[in-house]
Amino acid sequence: MDTIYVIDFGGQYCHLISRRIRDFGVATKIVPSDVSVEQIQDDPAACGIILSGGALSVFGKDAPVFDARILSLPLPFLGICYGHQLLAHHLGGVVRPGAAGEYGVTPLSVVSRTGIMKGLAKKESVWMNHRDVVSRIPRTWEKTASTAHSAIAAYASKDGRIHGVQFHPEVSHTSRGDMVVKNFVFGVARCKKSRSSRSLVESLVVETRDVIGARRTIIGLSGGVDSSVAAALVSRAIGSRLTAVYVDTGLMRAGETTEIRATFRSLPLKLRVINAQKRFFSALRGVTAPERKRKIIGKLFADIFLEAAKKEKAEVLVQGTIYSDRIESGITKHSSIIKSHHNVGGFPKKFGMQVYEPLRDLYKDEVRALARTLKLPQSILERQVFPGPGLAIRIIGEVTPDRTEIVRRAHVIIEQELRLTPFWRSIWMSFAVLLPIKSVGIQGDERSYRSSIVVRIVESRDAMTANFFRLPYDILEKISTRITNEIREVNRVVYDITNKPPATMEWE
Ligand code: XMP
Repeated sequence: MDTIYVIDFGGQYCHLISRRIRDFGVATKIVPSDVSVEQIQDDPAACGIILSGGALSVFGKDAPVFDARILSLPLPFLGICYGHQLLAHHLGGVVRPGAAGEYGVTPLSVVSRTGIMKGLAKKESVWMNHRDVVSRIPRTWEKTASTAHSAIAAYASKDGRIHGVQFHPEVSHTSRGDMVVKNFVFGVARCKKSRSSRSLVESLVVETRDVIGARRTIIGLSGGVDSSVAAALVSRAIGSRLTAVYVDTGLMRAGETTEIRATFRSLPLKLRVINAQKRFFSALRGVTAPERKRKIIGKLFADIFLEAAKKEKAEVLVQGTIYSDRIESGITKHSSIIKSHHNVGGFPKKFGMQVYEPLRDLYKDEVRALARTLKLPQSILERQVFPGPGLAIRIIGEVTPDRTEIVRRAHVIIEQELRLTPFWRSIWMSFAVLLPIKSVGIQGDERSYRSSIVVRIVESRDAMTANFFRLPYDILEKISTRITNEIREVNRVVYDITNKPPATMEWE
């Protein structure tokens, strides 16, 4: 599988480069800046190297460690921003601090419309984010573009192997950036398209067998798409040596446990559904503080999982961590395939198992594509995100089985009604929250004094911020009427019209 290596110099756009190339159907590997020459040289699939942007100066004391022997590999190179400067710095050019920085959308004059600049217009609009500039290049290279502050905004070696662009072709603000990257990948590096979900499944199956060998392995299923795909994939590689553990905390959405059983029963893994409802409800008895609830749930979950892992004599722990999880946790360095410990999901280090994350380099939509290839049901693919502590953080006050059932039933009504509307796909999350206050109502000519439900529906791109969803009143009315009609304990429904910030999506 032809592969483009993307060397990560800490630029926030590194994953975008990889994303673009994968969209073209070509495999990528993101590697840290201190990757050794051997790692790339020993990979027969390597067909080109991209050096990413980065925030530092190539001549600064704190410049990232880089094995310059990589530049002697007989492969084509594309340097972007920091990478553009790094190639010049190591290969006989000069880099200097610029008289002024260039930030944002910048006009570019294209001098030579060949190589990676093929197909561009004489004047282009590109996105810049730099202060240092390449001020001289070796005689065997030529300048291919310039801007007001970067006389050498792009260059190419005359033999067509080395290319540099000061601008960022990977961001959408560079109007024809895709063309530049495509020219490098197909025109210069001559990569063949190979990346399909099917080939990805095959290569991940091979990797999984390599990594796990004959060891017993365990995975926690949450019902979400990531852990489901990781389980389906690993089971394809090692069969029943994988035990998938699903802990039914009693705080799951309606039907979730049944669906997990139905989906995973047919796969060649060992499924263990642990009914732990009683343990969770008894641990939560009398607890009302949100953080205490989270801690109790997290600890009990880890204890139960650890008991299962011990029983199974598991040596490897598979986790469904995906690429964006790693970016969000501030992991800019490429994590190794296997780590001796891991803290994601609240699992303590004492777990002592090796962690394997087969989806670590994949983006959410790639994981969804894998789910389709692995024939996981549509319902798993379409699931809204759901918090680890489950319905407990949507029950204000004490978490009891009865109160959980009220929230669960209200959630079902909200989801059923929204699925009938064209808005369903635009909604990030929709759920019910049970308040600890009662209010007076009139139901069937009688005074009632019952619970209140909050309907929370939000839209968001990345969970960091969110807006309440501006749902038409008639749909809200239908939801409200069904909740008060069908759930006897509730006589009042309110709609949460707060954005995040200042509120969070969840209530606790
Ligand atoms: P907030 O409430 O912080 O939620 O706006 C943002 C997103 O994160 C989910 N969330 C959690 N997920 N464990 C999780 O796995 C948690 O403790 C947790 N708290 C919030 C929330 O459902 C929303 O999608």
